[in-house]
Amino acid sequence: MIEIKNITKTYRDGDISFQALDNVSFQIKDGEFVAIMGPSGSGKSTLMHILGALDTPTSGTYLLDGQDVSTLSDNELADIRQDKIGFVFQSFNLLPRTTVLRNVMLPLIYEGVRGEERKRRAEVALRAAGLDATHWSHLSNQLSGGQIQRVAIARALVNNPTLILADEPTGNLDSKTGEIVLSTFQKLNTEHGRTIVLITHEREVAEYAKRIIFIKDGTLVKQL
Ligand SMILES: Nc1ncnc2c1ncn2[C@@H]1O[C@H](COP(=O)(O)OP(=O)(O)OP(=O)(O)O)[C@@H](O)[C@H]1O
Ligand SMILES: [Mg+2]
Repeated sequence: MIEIKNITKTYRDGDISFQALDNVSFQIKDGEFVAIMGPSGSGKSTLMHILGALDTPTSGTYLLDGQDVSTLSDNELADIRQDKIGFVFQSFNLLPRTTVLRNVMLPLIYEGVRGEERKRRAEVALRAAGLDATHWSHLSNQLSGGQIQRVAIARALVNNPTLILADEPTGNLDSKTGEIVLSTFQKLNTEHGRTIVLITHEREVAEYAKRIIFIKDGTLVKQL
C-alpha cells in the first residue's frame, strides 16, 4: 500500500539548505505494524510528514494505494489526509473543556457526517481505542495522560483511515502508561487489522512493532 522510492527532502532557508532525507526507499504492506526508529534529528518527523501527506518530498515518489502523492497540491493532500490517514502526536492536541465524545467526533463534523452517525462512529472508535465508556462524557482536562492519548487514538481512528501514523505517541507518558498506549496500537493491528507506522527514538518502544526501519542522518540504515 505504501511505496516510497528514492525520497529526498531538502529544507531551504535563504542560501542555506539542509538535506533531511537522502534517497530513502521502502514499502509497507496493508496490515503491517512498522516502527521507524532513529536518533534525534535523523529525519523521522520529516518522513512522517511526507507519509502523512502533510508535506511533499523534494524528489522521489510516494505511492499510497497506488496513487502518486508526491506531486499533489495542498488541497489534494488535505483530501488524502481526510480519507486515508489518522494521526497521533506526542503532544495531546485535544480541545480543552470539551468532552471526550465531542473531541473524537470533531473530524467527522468537518467531513459533514450527520449527528447520530457521528456519535455512533465516535463510540466505535473509543471502544477500539480501549477507553472505558465511563469517561466519554468527561472533559479532556479531567483525564489522565494515558486516557487522553487513547482519546487521541480514537480520534485518529474515527474516519476509518487505512493508515495510522503515530509520532512519539508515548513521549510525554510515564513508562507504565506508555505500555498501555503501545499495547492499544498492537491490539488495533492484530485484532482490527490496522496498518500502523510508529515513530520513535526508543528501542523498547519500537519493539512493539513487527518490523523496524532504522534511519540515521536522513538515510535508511537497516530493517529488522
Ligand atoms: N522546516 C525545517 N527547516 C529547516 N530544517 C529543518 C526543518 N525541519 C526539520 N529540519 C531539520 O531536519 C533534520 C531532521 O528533522 P526531523 O524533525 O525530521 O528529526 P527527527 O528525527 O524527528 O528528530 P526528533 O527525534 O528530535 O523529533 C534536523 O536536522 C532538523 O533541524
Ligand atoms: Mg521528530
